[in-house]
Amino acid sequence: MSQKKIFLVFVAVSTVSLLLHHGGHFSWTMEAFHLGCSSLRTHSSPPKPKHTNVAFLKTHKTASTTMQNLLFRFAERNNLTVALPVQACGHQFCYPRSFSTHLVHPHTLPPNVITNHMRFNRAEMRRLMPNDTIYVTILREPGSMFESLFSYYNQYCQSFKRVPNGSLEVFLDEPWRYYRPDEKDSMYARNTLTFDLGGDKDRPEADVAAYSRAFVAETERVFSLVMIAEYFDESLVLLRHLLSWELEDMLYVKLNMRTSGSKRSLSPGLPAKIRSWNALDARLYDHFNDTLWRRLDALGPACVAREVRLLRRAQERLVRGCFGGRLPQLRSAAQIKNKDLRPWQPSAKVDIVGYDLPTNTTRPGGLAHDLCLKLIMPEVQYTKVLLRSESQRYRRRYPLRSPQPQQPLPFKRSVLPRHQQLHEEAPPPGPAPASVPTATPQPPETQNRATRLGHRPSGPNRQTP
Ligand SMILES: *[C@@H]1O[C@H](CO)[C@@H](O)[C@H](O)[C@H]1NC(C)=O
Ligand SMILES: *[C@@H]1O[C@H](CO)[C@@H](O)[C@H](O)[C@H]1NC(C)=O
Ligand SMILES: *[C@@H]1O[C@H](CO)[C@@H](O)[C@H](O)[C@H]1NC(C)=O
Ligand SMILES: *[C@@H]1O[C@H](CO)[C@@H](O)[C@H](O)[C@H]1NC(C)=O
Ligand SMILES: *[C@@H]1O[C@H](CO)[C@@H](O)[C@H](O)[C@H]1NC(C)=O
Repeated sequence: MSQKKIFLVFVAVSTVSLLLHHGGHFSWTMEAFHLGCSSLRTHSSPPKPKHTNVAFLKTHKTASTTMQNLLFRFAERNNLTVALPVQACGHQFCYPRSFSTHLVHPHTLPPNVITNHMRFNRAEMRRLMPNDTIYVTILREPGSMFESLFSYYNQYCQSFKRVPNGSLEVFLDEPWRYYRPDEKDSMYARNTLTFDLGGDKDRPEADVAAYSRAFVAETERVFSLVMIAEYFDESLVLLRHLLSWELEDMLYVKLNMRTSGSKRSLSPGLPAKIRSWNALDARLYDHFNDTLWRRLDALGPACVAREVRLLRRAQERLVRGCFGGRLPQLRSAAQIKNKDLRPWQPSAKVDIVGYDLPTNTTRPGGLAHDLCLKLIMPEVQYTKVLLRSESQRYRRRYPLRSPQPQQPLPFKRSVLPRHQQLHEEAPPPGPAPASVPTATPQPPETQNRATRLGHRPSGPNRQTP
């Protein structure tokens, strides 16, 4: 064979293998190209840059952990900074305390993304986040949500612990017998969504309608998208369009679920009782479920259905790539050998399931182990991993600030070393979280943010939305 022929054969083989290799992505792109959604038909103009400043209010028992995991992975892929809680707060921003910038770890400033549990506080969030931040949250149908709360916090929440036989029916017959509005964990027992959003969960009956109208309007003003857990994939389609992200950015695996054995269906009559006990949440849900469907209609049902199909197909591909076929078997937390993957369990009675990664996950040709691990990593562990990497990045950026030699922290440690110097330099109790020193050179953006963070708003209209 002449050299030329050998060369041609070589080219042909390379082309075929290249096509095989990228075939999945190629067909994906072609299909996405033909989605037919009006807002996607802009391929002649350059694609809009992805929006990277996002605040996701993580509500309780609403599939929000799955959403948080998706945002964590997006942030890591794009080198974004996620605001994380100071260690004293654990993996939540000292919930149920109202959110404050003081609760943010100084190594995670200035942030692009915030998603850990908190009780929402609009003014403090504005002080923390860039002014073009898009606010998103998620709600769940009150009946199944309350059943879930009741079972999850059965051993935790005083209002539930008082109920004889741990019976949901008994509680709902006379909730005031067991519920104490001023107990510190009472937010799990009534209008939890309203509480998480910063509202008042205990409005007197006569005031519910008026308060609810005002609260819905306020929520609508602040949040660009309120997702609905029952229509999670459809909500993701709206989110993707809102943020100009790729379909690949929306892939997820469901996290933090109970085994089907510890779920129960509600007997007739219960949903109505739950709605009346959680009247504020019920109104909130109804309003935003309607809103969601109106927006889906506006986008075009065919386009939405198609995008949901594409998402699910890509999800299957990802799971195949990661775990060689289907997802690793769901196991109860106690059985999961890999500590990094063990979800937190509220009590022995509730079986929260997670995934254990088989040791042979990294098959030749399989996807990167790290991606697959992160996909199923529970929130407590992922929060620690992020804090560690963001702290390392911070110390690389501001070496003067770090008195300690840079030693990688062992993964398993649950408490990171304190940064004495930082705390000493922090001003006494005041509005500034005192994250960014003024002595070290900083990128201009950081300087702006430091200035913004360091001063109380000068007027109510400091940042018009
Ligand atoms: C993220 O940072 C790493 C290391 O600094 C760099 O190699 C990579 O290109 C960055 N990625 C993006 C998406 O900016
Ligand atoms: C609790 O359970 C016991 C035994 O199953 C039953 O006798 C009792 O009536 C129950 N109490 C209530 C308040 O339902
Ligand atoms: C949400 O709204 C849609 C459209 O109005 C309706 O069909 C659906 O039943 C609602 N879902 C729930 C759980 O209320
Ligand atoms: C992992 O190894 C087990 C036993 O060695 C085997 O049965 C299984 O198919 C392997 N899984 C993958 C994804 O290769
Ligand atoms: C947002 O902040 C930037 C600088 O931090 C400023 O230039 C811009 O005018 C602000 N935009 C609004 C809408 O306030």
